[in-house]
Amino acid sequence: MTRRPLLIAIDGPAGAGKSATARELAVRLGLPYLDTGAMYRAVALLARRAGLGPELDGEGRRAVVGFAERLGVGFRGDPRAQRVILDGEDVTEALRAPEVSQMASVVSAIPEVRREMVRRQRELAARSGGVVEGRDIGTVVFPDATLKVFLTAEPEMRARRRFDELARRGVAASWEDVLEEQRERDRRDSTRPDSPMRPAEGAVIVDTSRLSLPEVVEAVVALLPGPPRTP
Ligand code: DC
Repeated sequence: MTRRPLLIAIDGPAGAGKSATARELAVRLGLPYLDTGAMYRAVALLARRAGLGPELDGEGRRAVVGFAERLGVGFRGDPRAQRVILDGEDVTEALRAPEVSQMASVVSAIPEVRREMVRRQRELAARSGGVVEGRDIGTVVFPDATLKVFLTAEPEMRARRRFDELARRGVAASWEDVLEEQRERDRRDSTRPDSPMRPAEGAVIVDTSRLSLPEVVEAVVALLPGPPRTP
């Protein structure tokens, strides 16, 4: 009898704590960590470097699909300090720039881009399992995951975390801009016709507004089937 690998899908909007939670879970459970947002961000970075902006015409759109199909993205290092490598270049920091965040939300609405990313994500995680973080992991990529979690938090709380994270990295941004960009990205990610962000059937919704990271991790671990897992 073959046992299915443990696969945990972590979906939810920006700033809900998906990355921190998914990374800690991966370390705790000894599983690979897959940041699918980084893949869309890598496509977005290539688009930006090619001079493309959020308003894509037919030609721009075709160029973006080409970037997705030829994407040479890889991950290196343990989940807590994972680096993203694009065509041999470490782009971990570059992927976090606010204009790349917006562009990632734009390119991820293109069905051909999604199809290509989903195919790769299945290839990467289907055999070994893992903690997979994104927007459509429980709904589209791995609907039969061992556990599906939708992390959410109040918009102001999420924007505050994003704001603090940008400040820590020395990126100057106003609170109003962060809140507005988040609103725009949430709207685009949850209203696109292809794979809109929403809780999957059977997903457990966890509101992280008033929980610390260790509390969120504990809450998710407690949802896993099987005997209790101690730290
Ligand atoms: O999680 P993130 O902020 O790194 O994601 C960047 C963008 O990519 C986000 O605006 C939506 C998109 N995305 C997606 O559509 N599907 C995923 N599985 C992951 C991210």
